[in-house]
Amino acid sequence: MIIEEELELMEKTMRSVFIGEVADLPQKLGKTVTIGNKEIAVFKTENGDIRAIENRCPHKGGVLAEGILSGDYVFCPMHDWKISITDGKVQAPDVGCVQTYPVEVKEDRVYILIHEKVGGEGNCSTPLAKGV
Ligand code: FES
Repeated sequence: MIIEEELELMEKTMRSVFIGEVADLPQKLGKTVTIGNKEIAVFKTENGDIRAIENRCPHKGGVLAEGILSGDYVFCPMHDWKISITDGKVQAPDVGCVQTYPVEVKEDRVYILIHEKVGGEGNCSTPLAKGV
């Protein structure tokens, strides 16, 4: 019961933003999408999954949409950190994370779910390293 109420509340506070048709997304290449003040890297993987993550590497701000995708990981174009596009975690030996965003596909249309509140996202809070 509590979980149902929490889910309902979450749905109410999330906004669904249309970003394009599935066919518009290049396979295995990142696409940059801007929603409000958020820059998001969207990837369509080899098996057709669509993932959305914050577009800035937690190391020194590399643009992740320009990285190389391999399976469920993107390699940052600047210093090659390996980052999961599924949960946003930087892979060892490096550390940190990027924000991930839920994606919904309805009738071949792709939507990203964004929290209404500023700062409402919550699965990563790694600040960029100094000297960006
Ligand atoms: S900025 Fe991404 S690895 Fe350095």
